[in-house]
Amino acid sequence: MSKKKPKIFDPVRVVDIAAKGQAVGKTDDGQVIFLEGAVPGDVVQVQSSRKRKGAWQGRILKYHSYAPERRDPACEHFGVCGGCKWQHLDYSAQLQYKAKEVEHNLRHIGKLENISFEDILQAPSEYFYRNKMEFSFSNQRWLTAAEIQQAEDGVLEKNGLGFHKPRMWDKVVDIQTCHLQADPSNEIRNFIRAYALEHQLSFFDPRAQKGFLRTLMIRNTLEGAFMVLIQFYDDHKPQRDLLLKSLEERFPQIQSLLYCINQKANDTLYDQEIICFSGKPYITEHMEGLAFKINAKSFFQTNSAQALALYQRVRDFAGLQATDRVYDLYTGTGTIALFMARHCQKVVGIESVPEAIEAAQENAVENGIDNCFFEVGDMKDCFNDAFIDRHGAADVIITDPPRSGMHPDVVQQLIQSSASKIVYVSCNSATQARDLALMKDSFEVVKSQAVDMFPQTHHVENIVLLIRK
Ligand SMILES: C[S@@+](CC[C@H](N)C(=O)[O-])C[C@H]1O[C@@H](n2cnc3c(N)ncnc32)[C@H](O)[C@@H]1O
Repeated sequence: MSKKKPKIFDPVRVVDIAAKGQAVGKTDDGQVIFLEGAVPGDVVQVQSSRKRKGAWQGRILKYHSYAPERRDPACEHFGVCGGCKWQHLDYSAQLQYKAKEVEHNLRHIGKLENISFEDILQAPSEYFYRNKMEFSFSNQRWLTAAEIQQAEDGVLEKNGLGFHKPRMWDKVVDIQTCHLQADPSNEIRNFIRAYALEHQLSFFDPRAQKGFLRTLMIRNTLEGAFMVLIQFYDDHKPQRDLLLKSLEERFPQIQSLLYCINQKANDTLYDQEIICFSGKPYITEHMEGLAFKINAKSFFQTNSAQALALYQRVRDFAGLQATDRVYDLYTGTGTIALFMARHCQKVVGIESVPEAIEAAQENAVENGIDNCFFEVGDMKDCFNDAFIDRHGAADVIITDPPRSGMHPDVVQQLIQSSASKIVYVSCNSATQARDLALMKDSFEVVKSQAVDMFPQTHHVENIVLLIRK
């Protein structure tokens, strides 16, 4: 990468959206500039001093004209908090660019020619779709230039509760209204902040590693049950009990009120003892008559309504017969496995996180499902010939790996398996396309269905059906 004196490009026409949701601008003499915050159709003036692999990384100085697909963002924190970066793009245009990216990756990285692309499945709600939000307390919230002046005059509140400012680990953007989680998520967060300020409870100091209030997690279900977990740094029982009691009285929707005391350097919950202050230690999500217990540490798809649509499409693609033996690779808490179980002879799920497998087994028992079996292990070691001997050869394999895709050994095992069909679910169509390219001599890659789980972001889920040649 070369760093030079800033150059001004004018005019720059924004023509497309590239990987990771960045806008692509072009000058009249054909130079390519990647931009944040632009929409295809905008015409802008840009400054840039960084060129990498033949393309500039630019900063917009001025808009000459705006694209017809541009709209006003719904959120007052847009552009500051770092989330929901596509709010300024009309939702139908968001869908179009997501579908285009998937098709581009499968055609160019996967070199797939005869694949059919189904229309992208839009999310039932553009906003308020997330079932899990995590906020941080900070005694040094991020301030605008005007606020810095006020702070110098000593009149501004410096405590904040919200999201970490991107690339500033110690600064938190104080969030008043977030458009991602249903009510009363905002009221709960704002109540806790107001209570803490009124009662002079200390907000965490990330540099000095001290303070009382550290993080807040809010989870909810489609039926409106809420879980609230407050992570404290100081173990101060009287203050803690009064705060939690007030919260319990004010919000009857909170069915699970939890806390933990975390005095480690980082604020991850996974190695923490979670204590139930009132209610149950979990909330329960219901989908198609199945019940899924969600505790503070459980993985669950973050858009429940669209997860249901995703799982139903996966099952359509799998076209299961009552006699089919199914493997569900990267099963997490076994949600896909349980969705398939009533439509086939048996399902075997594999997953590397032991707690997720415990939850999967518990969910199977709770739902009276006795034809699901689960194993813990790293996929490349666990999904081997001995596994196939133990469980019997699969007719259909469903695979839903993390963003990095599948290890080449897992791809080889899929090729050598006896499965006549594979349904490949992915949240990263670039790594999915890479893996499909390795499988296309053995499988016909028949169809692809993009599913929008995350409106206002560039992220998209994609399902692909492979049939053995
Ligand atoms: C995209 S999630 C799939 C979750 C699940 N299918 C669902 O819909 O809830 C990927 C899962 O793969 C698991 N995982 C990641 N790497 C793994 C590996 N090497 N071996 C086995 N499981 C792995 C993760 O823990 C995670 O649960």
